[in-house]
Amino acid sequence: MSQFNAFWVEKTDDGMTYSVVERSTDDLPPGDVLIRVQYSSVNYKDALSAKGNPGVTRHFPHTPGIDAAGIVEASTAADFNIGDEVLIVGYDLGMNTPGGFGQYVRVPAEWIVKMPAGMSARESMVLGTAGFTAALCVAKLEQMGATPADGPVLVTGASGGVGSVAVALLAKLGFEVVASSGKADKVEYLKSLGAASVVGREELSGENKRPMLAETWAHAVDTVGGEILSNVIKQLKYGGSVAICGLVASPSFSTTVMPFIIRNVNVLGIDSVQLPIKEKRAIWQRLATDLRLTSLDTMTTEVGLSDLSDVIEQIFAGKVTGRTLVNLEK
Ligand SMILES: NC(=O)c1ccc[n+]([C@@H]2O[C@H](COP(=O)([O-])OP(=O)(O)OC[C@H]3O[C@@H](n4cnc5c(N)ncnc54)[C@H](OP(=O)(O)O)[C@@H]3O)[C@@H](O)[C@H]2O)c1
Repeated sequence: MSQFNAFWVEKTDDGMTYSVVERSTDDLPPGDVLIRVQYSSVNYKDALSAKGNPGVTRHFPHTPGIDAAGIVEASTAADFNIGDEVLIVGYDLGMNTPGGFGQYVRVPAEWIVKMPAGMSARESMVLGTAGFTAALCVAKLEQMGATPADGPVLVTGASGGVGSVAVALLAKLGFEVVASSGKADKVEYLKSLGAASVVGREELSGENKRPMLAETWAHAVDTVGGEILSNVIKQLKYGGSVAICGLVASPSFSTTVMPFIIRNVNVLGIDSVQLPIKEKRAIWQRLATDLRLTSLDTMTTEVGLSDLSDVIEQIFAGKVTGRTLVNLEK
């Protein structure tokens, strides 16, 4: 048994309260592998959990953290030995299973990815679910046959976690990336990640009744949903695809069938949570090799457990830029 620190979210009559408390590994649920967490990261979903969103977390008190990377401390699974470096993104971690905002997690073996050779725990969590999801979007566009010769690729919510990594990955692969952002002061940041140009979020916002608009984007990665996604679909070039993964603006969007039956465009769904572990491991392998990024430091803010309550508020205020790394040893 080990004592450890964990971020603790409680639901009270006055709303959600946050603290850092001491827990015991005996408090963790049963599972195959006990992991000492070195790093986690903050994702939009962690903020939803911490706000008590029942679609993410039903039972409180709770420790969020949908990402974790660290060292195996105990294992009953043949595939994992004490001392192995591992990471986890998604499945139930941080939802209704105590997550990576605690210094220990205990999980089923089939949730775990062995750390790819050459990738550190820190790097893996700078990427975290957001970076992993960005890679899924890129991989699905590739599966549809997208190439840099097709033309500009739009990334919405570009200064956020998924957006920042998507910009950097697409630029690395040679695409002309257009970043859409609501933050006028992040133009240089987005260009440093590889964006060729930046458009203001307002240019893509607003309801437009026309079924199609001028063909503008070869492809797109959309992290926001809502009217912006509706407009992006109408602006896709013939044969273009949009990978959709997020809902920060709205979970709804509207379209007619026209872009699909006149322009042959595609909407690609992206889920990072329940993706089979074999596919997760393959994408992590790519993130350590052909999709390896050298710009991770540019997009990283490092925090400790005691900083998390502030970070959660900043996420809902739309003020977070890039990725927030949680150092569990800080
Ligand atoms: N499908 C999956 O498996 C999966 C995995 C990971 C994340 N997600 C989802 O992807 C989305 C992005 O996640 P994230 O971790 O990147 O979040 P994030 O770091 O908070 O970034 C979201 C970005 O969206 C933009 N934004 C904020 N409020 C907006 C609004 N009202 N209208 C339009 N844009 C707005 C902002 O970028 P700008 O200021 O640059 O516009 C913000 O930085 C979330 O909805 C998350 O739940 C889904």
